[in-house]
Amino acid sequence: MPDDRPEPSSPACLAHEASDAYMGYATRDEIAAFLNELLEAERAGTGVALKSADAAAGTPFADLLRDVHRDEARWCAMLLKQLKALGVPASPRIGAFQEKALAIEGLPERIAFLNRGQGWVVRKLRETMPKVRDDALHRDLAEMLHSHEANIARASEALKAAPGGPTNGR
Ligand SMILES: [Fe+2]
Repeated sequence: MPDDRPEPSSPACLAHEASDAYMGYATRDEIAAFLNELLEAERAGTGVALKSADAAAGTPFADLLRDVHRDEARWCAMLLKQLKALGVPASPRIGAFQEKALAIEGLPERIAFLNRGQGWVVRKLRETMPKVRDDALHRDLAEMLHSHEANIARASEALKAAPGGPTNGR
């Protein structure tokens, strides 16, 4: 028996999009923009951690920056994978955050700034995750959220313990 169902072309997709928006879920375009915004931020975070590692050698921040670098790179890879699954081109840009952070000379001050950037990522994730319908993407974003929360707490501790005192983390 020949399959004579109508081709599920754009009208079906548009209907799906419209119902997603109606249900309060983010549309594909909104998800794509969100993932690319995060990708640019995580690239910046990767660069800041990597480029600060030399300055941190022999300090209590060395291990922290190495781990933050590894995590940020991991989230870049996850975001690239999710953008590919969505069929959306990945932004080639690096967030302006990198340049701003690297312009900060003092390592504790730079790490405090990095932590505020990580806090921005946490806020964006908490705000958008309830609108993400796709389970696999939601799981990845939840892992990214928890990893960021853990690294923020760890950096705050390292800043408190660092010479120069507890004011560094605030
Ligand atoms: Fe990050």
